[in-house]
Amino acid sequence: MSPQERLFLSDMTIREQEVQAWRDLMIPGQDKKFQFLHGDSGVLRKRNVLHELFGEFRWVHIDGEHSYEGVISDLDLAFDCIGRSGIVACDDVFHPMSACVTQAIFDYVARNAHKARLLVLGFCKAYLTTPYWYDFYHQACYKELLPTFDEAKLPITLCLNGWNQSSDYYSIIPRRSEGKYVTIGQFHEDIPS
Ligand SMILES: C[S@@+](CC[C@H](N)C(=O)[O-])C[C@H]1O[C@@H](n2cnc3c(N)ncnc32)[C@H](O)[C@@H]1O
Repeated sequence: MSPQERLFLSDMTIREQEVQAWRDLMIPGQDKKFQFLHGDSGVLRKRNVLHELFGEFRWVHIDGEHSYEGVISDLDLAFDCIGRSGIVACDDVFHPMSACVTQAIFDYVARNAHKARLLVLGFCKAYLTTPYWYDFYHQACYKELLPTFDEAKLPITLCLNGWNQSSDYYSIIPRRSEGKYVTIGQFHEDIPS
């Protein structure tokens, strides 16, 4: 986090003391950077609690209520919060126990192409951004994602998926013997043009 940035943590049952203890151990002297928002995120959204900071966030991570309507509501709040270059990450994607998380994300980008684009899916996460920065991040994923994983010695295969409404997206899987890249139904050793 840069010196002027803050971290907002929100949950219905936030364990503030545990988080503070972790913060003081890992990054001492950062207490003013952490802000806790207690309560139901749907109510926080309806009460416009964060409205003065709309557009100011660069990263939002959602790991909250797993109902379909809960995910849609959290995505609405997240997309209000981020700026044009912001990223929204969602947890528990493709988790069979809460399949509606995945359905909600796909429905959300289908209904909100004017504000939300899917970038990457995999390892239980989905990463989304706005249409303004979609091309930039999409290109960066194409060129940088595998070299970055390779450098970290994480064998990952990058799969280009089909179009979802107006844009395509990548998924990432543990690397198999066939190749480092996948286009629909086809493995490639080198980056496909
Ligand atoms: C799967 S847990 C994840 C917690 C945390 N992200 C972690 O990894 O330890 C889901 C969390 O969502 C919170 N939650 C569920 N529904 C919520 C809502 N409507 N508003 C705010 N928090 C909610 C729960 O209290 C729970 O802590």
